[in-house]
Amino acid sequence: MPSDANAPVLEARNISRHYGAVVALADASVQLRPREVLGLVGDNGAGKSTLLKILSGIVAPTSGEIIIDNKPVVLKGAQDAMDAGIETVYQDLALVDTMSAYQNVYLGREEVSSNPVAKFFGLVDDRKMKTRAREVLDQLQVKVPSINVSVKGMSGGQRQCLAIARSLLWGRRIVILDEPTAALGVRETGQVLEVIRDLRKHDVSVIVVSHNMQQLMSIADRITVMRLGRSIATRTVADTEVNEIVGLITGSIPGDSPEARAQQNAA
Ligand SMILES: Nc1ncnc2c1ncn2[C@@H]1O[C@H](COP(=O)(O)OP(=O)(O)OP(=O)(O)O)[C@@H](O)[C@H]1O
Ligand SMILES: [Mg+2]
Repeated sequence: MPSDANAPVLEARNISRHYGAVVALADASVQLRPREVLGLVGDNGAGKSTLLKILSGIVAPTSGEIIIDNKPVVLKGAQDAMDAGIETVYQDLALVDTMSAYQNVYLGREEVSSNPVAKFFGLVDDRKMKTRAREVLDQLQVKVPSINVSVKGMSGGQRQCLAIARSLLWGRRIVILDEPTAALGVRETGQVLEVIRDLRKHDVSVIVVSHNMQQLMSIADRITVMRLGRSIATRTVADTEVNEIVGLITGSIPGDSPEARAQQNAA
């Protein structure tokens, strides 16, 4: 095995983001390794969503570097991030209520029919879309009532799973999720967690923000803790416990960087 098989697929190095006088991010660094689920935690306002938005190309960093496959990149917009293989599932999901499950999975990139005449008119190949959508949903064992009915009547969990499945269909290698289960019931949450856990089988790496430590520790390989705009510690889930992570979040445990320790001493 080559020595860099475990090299990060995505890395944020010393990212800061200022909004006028507000420092949303002071100095955040994360590394996402192949096929891992990286949890990102921190108190309200710690800078988690801001960091995710920077990695999704929708917010530009004030300073710092983003590295994909060992190459520094500048993401000038959401499309740049998608082109680099990064898919972000937002809280509101951007599914269209009146469209069916399979149409939503394909949203924005309908399969043009291979029939040359149909292609000329840009007609959508419904049958092919359905088959592929079914395949992807099956691969992730996403259960929806039918891929043909509109998503209007679907649960929050089913909708979240559809949005995640979309990333697989589009061949993304990195999926970013900001509090994917925040609005879900117990059973729905279980379904979404399982889908997230399974993404690694499809060579996909995941960054997920959550305030639910038990849940996060049941799906994450490592957890990076943020405090006041800084990434202050990263722990392997197998070598830590909820108490340590909570202590790092609240500041009762100092964290690893000199700045985190200085903050701790000043507090
Ligand atoms: N567009 C903006 N303009 C001004 N300040 C902002 C903006 N976006 C974020 N901030 C500030 O930056 C800080 C970090 O916000 P962010 O949303 O990243 O936190 P978070 O860790 O995601 O919190 P939560 O857990 O509550 O979602 C907060 O103090 C927030 O008010
Ligand atoms: Mg947030």
